[in-house]
Amino acid sequence: MDSSKNIKYYDELDNEGQFELPDTGRKYLPRRNPKQIPAAIQQFVQKQDDSRHTFAYTYKAARFEEGWLLDSLGYFYEQKWISDVLLKIKAGKEASVYLCRAGEQVEAQLVAAKVYRPRMLRNLRDDHLYREGRTDLDEDGRELHDEGSIHAVLTRSRYGEEVRHQSWIAHEYTAMQTLFEAGADVPQPYEMAHNAILMDYVGNLAMPAPTLNDVSLDREEAGQLFARLKQDLDILLTHGHVHGDLSAYNVLYWEGKVSLIDFPQVVSPEHNRNAYAIFERDITRLCEYFIRQGLLLKPQRLAAELWTAHGYHLRPEVHPRLLDADNPGDLKFWKRNEQAK
Ligand SMILES: Nc1ncnc2c1ncn2[C@@H]1O[C@H](COP(=O)(O)OP(=O)(O)OP(=O)(O)O)[C@@H](O)[C@H]1O
Ligand SMILES: [Mg+2]
Repeated sequence: MDSSKNIKYYDELDNEGQFELPDTGRKYLPRRNPKQIPAAIQQFVQKQDDSRHTFAYTYKAARFEEGWLLDSLGYFYEQKWISDVLLKIKAGKEASVYLCRAGEQVEAQLVAAKVYRPRMLRNLRDDHLYREGRTDLDEDGRELHDEGSIHAVLTRSRYGEEVRHQSWIAHEYTAMQTLFEAGADVPQPYEMAHNAILMDYVGNLAMPAPTLNDVSLDREEAGQLFARLKQDLDILLTHGHVHGDLSAYNVLYWEGKVSLIDFPQVVSPEHNRNAYAIFERDITRLCEYFIRQGLLLKPQRLAAELWTAHGYHLRPEVHPRLLDADNPGDLKFWKRNEQAK
């Protein structure tokens, strides 16, 4: 039952004076002695026991956050992926990440929920750069082909913006799924909801894993971790992904191991004409950190080697459908490619 229907139901009950309407949007269980409640209503309430309307959590959310969390994490609670929200790990530019106690569905005790900001899209500068060559995905991670949605995205209608928002989340989730299954160092993703992703939590109850940029490594460990990350990048390329925002800020470090995070902007090495430039920037930023830890690295050479080892061309072939004849940059790009043929 969706929340609006539920609220309506309780409104109706309230109007009949059966029992009081709760004062917050969260705890909707009746507070009276259950014996006074007619059997039909008791049954309804019991049925609702696992619903998001009984979702009360330990974390002291700010008022504006409450509805947002209920809306974003209620589904995980209903489906027993989480049983409690314990604290906010970090409020980032595009999302906030919460530490949750896992529900019955998960073997681990703790999980991390990444909840996207409603205004996330506005913060994404140059999003067309990443969207090129990427099909939008729906809430289940399937490619969107229905014309209505595609048109809505193109015309940037309100519904289109919602589709786009969901698509970024779905790209992050499906990329994590593919990479986790392929053995890359990424937190195991468990489930996606319309505004959130649930994944393995890296850290313990006392503290979350720091990101690499907050960690100093000795040269030996730096060498080992860099070699490991190179393997991860290899897996990414093998599975058709360039991270797109890689740096020491998006690598977690915990008990001597690394985990790559933050994938909504993944791009395809084959279908995005900026893919190599984005990849080179990823490698350069990652190398900057490891050079500070004492490694001797040549980022540009490394990027070119990894790229070509996967059979990708340094100068990408771009399907003419992706080029805009009225755009001088696109025209220049097309002419250069024609000359190089
Ligand atoms: N699985 C996880 N386990 C522990 N901590 C995590 C996990 N995922 C994310 N975090 C923490 O949350 C922060 C934000 O996550 P992420 O980078 O995915 O989101 P973001 O909105 O892009 O943030 P930012 O703008 O800071 O890059 C991370 O820097 C890290 O501190
Ligand atoms: Mg990040």
